[in-house]
Amino acid sequence: ENSIRLAVVPGDGIGPEVTAEALKVLEAVAPVTVEQTRYDLGAERYLATGEVLPDSVLEEIRGHDAILLGAVGGKPGDPNLPPGILERGLLLRLRFELDHYVNLRPSRTYPGVTTPLADHVTGGREIDFVVVREGTEGPYTGNGGALRVGTPAEIATEVSVNTAYGVERVVRDAFGRAQRRERKLLTLVHKTNVLVNAGAVWWRLTQQVAQEFPEVTVDYMHVDAAMIFLATDPTRFDVIVTDNLFGDIVTDLAAAITGGIGLAASGNVNPDRTSPSMFEPVHGSAPDIAGQGVADPTAAILSAGLLLDHLGHADAAAALEAAVLADLAERDPATKRSTTAVGDAVAARLA
Ligand code: NAD
Ligand code: IPM
Ligand code: MN
Repeated sequence: ENSIRLAVVPGDGIGPEVTAEALKVLEAVAPVTVEQTRYDLGAERYLATGEVLPDSVLEEIRGHDAILLGAVGGKPGDPNLPPGILERGLLLRLRFELDHYVNLRPSRTYPGVTTPLADHVTGGREIDFVVVREGTEGPYTGNGGALRVGTPAEIATEVSVNTAYGVERVVRDAFGRAQRRERKLLTLVHKTNVLVNAGAVWWRLTQQVAQEFPEVTVDYMHVDAAMIFLATDPTRFDVIVTDNLFGDIVTDLAAAITGGIGLAASGNVNPDRTSPSMFEPVHGSAPDIAGQGVADPTAAILSAGLLLDHLGHADAAAALEAAVLADLAERDPATKRSTTAVGDAVAARLA
């Protein structure tokens, strides 16, 4: 079956701009055909109607093979759009309700793309690792609260939730990915020296699941030290497994060291396939450049590639990635191309 029933949520800011290019490229990849349902979820709908993600829309989205999302969220500080309304109510709700427990974020260097790292940092080797970020737990669950708000005695808490069930399943997924890769190296990134309760669960279950994967080498790094090595020795990483918040931060840095946030793709994956997985760039709605037609759509396009791969269209995914690589290799850093020009160029390579 080469037809994909795709739920499309372009969202806010540059979301619609980059999503249009990802769709353009998806339409150009043979032999896949796309049957789109578009959802106007995001800031505009919220401001007009107060709706963020109606239950009926969520149920409709469930009926698709996959979801392609642009970005949601407004300009930080906008009084009409308090932070979290869309991020929590739309994006995180989709991740939680659809049980996207593997937030997959690959990072690699691309021929022709310069990085802020000096050559001696990579020693001429390519950076190529994948972050398996837990997607449904941690400090993201909204388990916390505020007392005596606005007073000098205010207390705010965000409690990180780490269940054995949730940690074990994402750790097992990460081991599986490490096993299928050449280097077979898994690095657990946490903060077990301070977050001793959550840390103990992650540490113990990593050691336990490791027994099932004797070929995989297991390493551990505190998250602060991991930032040092991401900047000074990133080729040491192969698969990183980490919690929801650490994974968020690690993957923006990972993007920055491999050519920028405009290239970083992600998949919110439900490996059990009990609901559609969702693919989106790592970046946000970028209010600072929205509407100018200058956002790089490459991250969104590569996310569509992850989508193809997830749905079993390995050849189409490889063709898409090859087209992006060829496009990147021929980019002239001195000439800034528009968002649509990049999408057109990649699509043309596939036609
Ligand atoms: P951001 O990723 O939107 O932007 C950070 C910087 O990166 C900005 O300077 C922006 O111009 C640049 N940038 C991002 N994507 C780019 C692209 N494709 N091409 C070129 N430059 C790009 O992060 P932020 O500014 O912290 O957040 C802005 C809004 O987006 C907030 O409301 C935030 O909550 C939301 N957000 C949403 C998602 C998502 O939907 N998945 C992810 C991150 C942030
Ligand atoms: C991301 C974003 C989201 C996250 C926000 C917008 C909820 O930063 O996808 O990386 O923290 O997961
Ligand atoms: Mn993020």
